[in-house]
Amino acid sequence: MRILIIGCGSIGNVLAKAAQAMPEIDGIYFTDRSEQRAKARASEYSKGRLTGYDDASIISSINQVDLVIEAASQEAARRFTPMCLDRGRDIMVMSVGVFHDDVFRGHCFDLAIKNRARLYIPSGAVCGTDGLRSAQGRVDQVHLITTKGPNGFHDVAYLKEKGMDVTKLTEPTILFEGSAREAVRLFPKNVNVAATVSLMGLGFDKTKVTIICDPRSTVNSHQLIAKGAFGELKAEIQNVPSPENPATSYLAALSAVSALKSIATNVWVGV
Ligand SMILES: NC(=O)c1ccc[n+]([C@@H]2O[C@H](COP(=O)([O-])OP(=O)(O)OC[C@H]3O[C@@H](n4cnc5c(N)ncnc54)[C@H](O)[C@@H]3O)[C@@H](O)[C@H]2O)c1
Repeated sequence: MRILIIGCGSIGNVLAKAAQAMPEIDGIYFTDRSEQRAKARASEYSKGRLTGYDDASIISSINQVDLVIEAASQEAARRFTPMCLDRGRDIMVMSVGVFHDDVFRGHCFDLAIKNRARLYIPSGAVCGTDGLRSAQGRVDQVHLITTKGPNGFHDVAYLKEKGMDVTKLTEPTILFEGSAREAVRLFPKNVNVAATVSLMGLGFDKTKVTIICDPRSTVNSHQLIAKGAFGELKAEIQNVPSPENPATSYLAALSAVSALKSIATNVWVGV
């Protein structure tokens, strides 16, 4: 099996290391808008091959691989997801927040069905999505509670507009409570987890999100609570940051590796 990794940052690198060790994978193509990064990765791994960052090179690689993995940015997901699905190529998307755009999501989902291509969205930095997925159609309430330390909130325009300085907080404080759609708009850094939970459960308008700043917190925690005819689900993860990118939870990269292993080996446990 051959894969193309788009985005040679923290998730891309964890994936590349795992893919290098997997006997099922014999070629790892790399591309990145930073050619230097892609070159470094391609030369670091014996299975590595460099793909240029122009449409013709990327399309040529898409045609040669079995699976494309986007681990770059929402901009990249917006550009490459339809490019793959249109060609019937399977793609795993890490920048899942891109799917909060209803029109874009509908277009991609339609393309996947029409061209019999698979669109994989790993559970990423949140846990409990297995239960939420199983309960689909029997869920009445979904609530995501995200707690981060002050570092997780710098550069949030909404807080600046409100004149709120989270570094001055002395106790856990609720910064936001509302729909996932509104949370994604006001707290774009929370977009991936809110999107994953919304896609699994009740959608962006009915999923409730609470965002808390805890001045003592050094981890990003996500609590997922769901209720319905299936019963009640409560799951919580205390995420440590990725060794290479403090903005990314390590679990997100590990979930991509786990998804790759399931795809490559055709064995899915916990589907
Ligand atoms: N699903 C989840 O729960 C979850 C969790 C964490 C991160 N993510 C998302 O995964 C993506 C990758 O995260 P990361 O920590 O590896 O990021 P990173 O910043 O460490 O690496 C991103 C890499 O992609 C490249 N890149 C960015 N935009 C690009 C583009 N348009 N075309 C080609 N290359 C591009 C950058 O040059 C960089 O090398 C991000 O969008 C992030 O938001 C998802």
